[in-house]
Amino acid sequence: MFQSKIAGMGYYVPKNVYTNNDLTRFMDTSDEWIQERTGIKERRYADRLEETTTTMAVEAAKIAIERAKTTAQEIDFIIFATLSPDYYFPGCGVLLQREMGMKEIGALDIRNQCSGFVYALSIADQFIKTGMYKNILVVGSEKQSFAMDYSTRGRSVSVIFGDGAGAVVVQPTTEEGKGILSTHLHADGADAEKLALYYPGASAGKWLENKPNWPDKELGDIFMTPEMLEDGSVTAHMDGQAVFKKAVVKFPEVIAEALQKNNLQTGDIDMLIPHQANLRISQYVQKTLGLSDDQVFNNIQKYGNTTAASVPIALCEAWEQGKIKDGDLVCLAAFGAGFTWGSALIRW
Ligand code: COA
Repeated sequence: MFQSKIAGMGYYVPKNVYTNNDLTRFMDTSDEWIQERTGIKERRYADRLEETTTTMAVEAAKIAIERAKTTAQEIDFIIFATLSPDYYFPGCGVLLQREMGMKEIGALDIRNQCSGFVYALSIADQFIKTGMYKNILVVGSEKQSFAMDYSTRGRSVSVIFGDGAGAVVVQPTTEEGKGILSTHLHADGADAEKLALYYPGASAGKWLENKPNWPDKELGDIFMTPEMLEDGSVTAHMDGQAVFKKAVVKFPEVIAEALQKNNLQTGDIDMLIPHQANLRISQYVQKTLGLSDDQVFNNIQKYGNTTAASVPIALCEAWEQGKIKDGDLVCLAAFGAGFTWGSALIRW
């Protein structure tokens, strides 16, 4: 068995900054409301035409690959996490492969929303451990701004989310006790609809059945209809309070699980990188675990919630700021739609 490590990281955020005050041009909201409930001050939005989930991922991947002292040609597997792919299918993994001129390696897309990166890292870890691959590119990237409702109707969701990408290269290490110590993945589909983007989707027929303009045909025509566009079913739906309540239980639980597995205590954590869901959630988790301010990294204030990109962006930024050093114990933890959640414990 091999042990795996993160050999290089990179992130990319678009240039366009939208402050909370900027959003008041589109909806009835305020800087005070958004900051008080979420901690967010501003977020980045990708260029509507020039940038996609894949192009942002490519920028992050280039940096990660260079820092890992490897090349795009040497990457032997791609794992791409996103809930906002360029196309309904195929996934972004193959698009990134094409853009970066990589070999005919495998490309896996995963759909685990805010915990997508932690799931992706766990998959990479298994492939490295068994010796199947030696240089895996793991990406989390999101262009969420294209599918949000920026009217007052959608304000409780749209103010939270932002765009960006993060990437890491995972390689084997021979350094004893270093690298990814363990990963822990969970899901509970009971509340799948509490944080979801319903359509386009294959359950649309059920939704449309009782609508006046139900397309009365034997086949087809229910993938997306004008009614869905009108009533907001093609933008994300979130029961914010249900998400909050579950997240503040599952974050500490899955972090404790990782520590217990490795016979470690919360006090041993040098840096916790929580998925940047909401600053209030991170603060609640910090308090529950009794961690100090310098043991927890937050950057949601600048970027909002970038879903699958949030953990790798935060990890990379913390490292660039010198907050992660050789030998540190780093814990990644995420929770999101599904619900799905997970953690990874890494000895740097
Ligand atoms: N600006 C101003 N007012 C807003 C608003 C906005 N952007 N969004 C909602 N409101 C209003 C609501 O319409 C409601 O008004 P009413 O009392 O007149 O009906 C009021 O604020 C309270 O709404 P509510 O949805 O009950 O607020 P909340 O206290 O639950 O906060 C969230 C909403 C979304 C900030 C909060 O539930 C939350 O943080 N949940 C977790 C979300 C999360 O982390 N998601 C990512 C998961 S990975």
